[in-house]
Amino acid sequence: MNQATAKESKSRDIATLLHPYTNLKLHQTEGPMVITEGDGVFVRDEDGKSYIEALAGLWCVSLGFSERRLAEAAYRQMLKLPYYHTFASKAHDVGIELAEKLLSIAPVPMSKVFFVNSGSEANDTVVKLVWYYNNAIGRPQKKKILSRMKGYHGVTVASASLTGLPNNHRDFDLPIANILHVDCPHWYRFGKPGESEEAFATRMAESLEQRILSEGPDTVAAMIAEPVMGAGGAIFPPATYWDKIQPVLKKYDVMLIADEVICGFGRTGNMWGTTTYGMKPHMITCAKALSSGYLPIAAVMISEEIYAAMVKESEKIGVFAHGFTYSGHPVTSAVALETLKIYEEIDILSHVRKVTPRFQAGLHSFQDHPLVGEFRGIGLIGAVELVADKSTKAPFDPKAGIGGYLAKRGHHHGIIVRAMGDVIAFCPPLIIKEDEIDLMFERFGRALDDTLAKVREA
Ligand SMILES: Cc1ncc(COP(=O)(O)O)c(C=O)c1O
Repeated sequence: MNQATAKESKSRDIATLLHPYTNLKLHQTEGPMVITEGDGVFVRDEDGKSYIEALAGLWCVSLGFSERRLAEAAYRQMLKLPYYHTFASKAHDVGIELAEKLLSIAPVPMSKVFFVNSGSEANDTVVKLVWYYNNAIGRPQKKKILSRMKGYHGVTVASASLTGLPNNHRDFDLPIANILHVDCPHWYRFGKPGESEEAFATRMAESLEQRILSEGPDTVAAMIAEPVMGAGGAIFPPATYWDKIQPVLKKYDVMLIADEVICGFGRTGNMWGTTTYGMKPHMITCAKALSSGYLPIAAVMISEEIYAAMVKESEKIGVFAHGFTYSGHPVTSAVALETLKIYEEIDILSHVRKVTPRFQAGLHSFQDHPLVGEFRGIGLIGAVELVADKSTKAPFDPKAGIGGYLAKRGHHHGIIVRAMGDVIAFCPPLIIKEDEIDLMFERFGRALDDTLAKVREA
């Protein structure tokens, strides 16, 4: 695209588009980065510059940006049945097949699948199901849902309430009632001096138990958690964390909900993050890599116990009055089915396991860098946390915008990374090859060195 056209699209964007997760004031002068094409793990902007997409878009494009089979699956389904719904006992063949497929690969026995269009809708649905279920079984007071500080569960009214990040609440008048936030299990940040990972996990479980007791166990219904906390800063549970948290939940009959929106479908080296960490959830939400991000689809899987109670409640009321026009849309379902088929055919899990050592070694290579406080990762997800002082772990003043500066320098060097404050996350397409992993970290390293130069200059 020539420069005049690029300039024009920038001003058209500023005139018309409201951007999510953007400093709207800054955007009025800086404008957008306009991406026009994708190929494998790369995307290209309107000036023709190529970037390696180190976050797979928004943690979602597992099969990269040019999987023709997904486009063809959508096209075939568009011609056959472009729309139908699942309200009032209607169904379509692809929706049924996708539900069967998901149940067959679920990490723990699950009974039914409810389709939605986004991770936020999935988690919003979960909140309603927790309440519906407890009303159904005669526990109308057991309604509180625990989530973790720095957890990310979406942006709708209920799911943003679950999200444990201040900016998602501030001036949106959130969180709503009955959502409580408990400790963030980030050992590097919140572990006490000299405290082992295991001791920290014990403290997390004790603190959870205290919170349940102080709230009253008969009022606490569920806890929602990502196996790996994504948007809160790619945070991994400390050793023994789930072994200690789950017995506490069980003791007080608090249901566990696994938010697999990022971890699901191979990200951590197993099909589910739940499996990687030995979690035994009663409900699971998934999205993103379910369709490799090609079309919006997400799902909630529920256990037989929850389903059985819902059946009774809907019989009493006359209907289960929840659902979206596009719940289980046939075209998105067809693309999701094709995505799962491709995962099997190319054995995506073996591929992820094969390239994981290279990815983890890449992260590791930054451990001595003066700006890097912690590097962390599992499977093909990881992060580097930038600090002002390595020995004290002192962070930079958020106003300095160090992470944002690094992301900008990344653009210059041909890599798109996500800066969550001063945490830089990596979550590349699962199909990434070893030489592309090397290239990704080489480009990141250049951006990191530029950032160090800027810090030293300041
Ligand atoms: C773990 C997790 N849950 C839920 C969501 C919300 O998904 P969506 O943006 O599709 O609403 C996200 C989005 O990044 C996520 O990472």
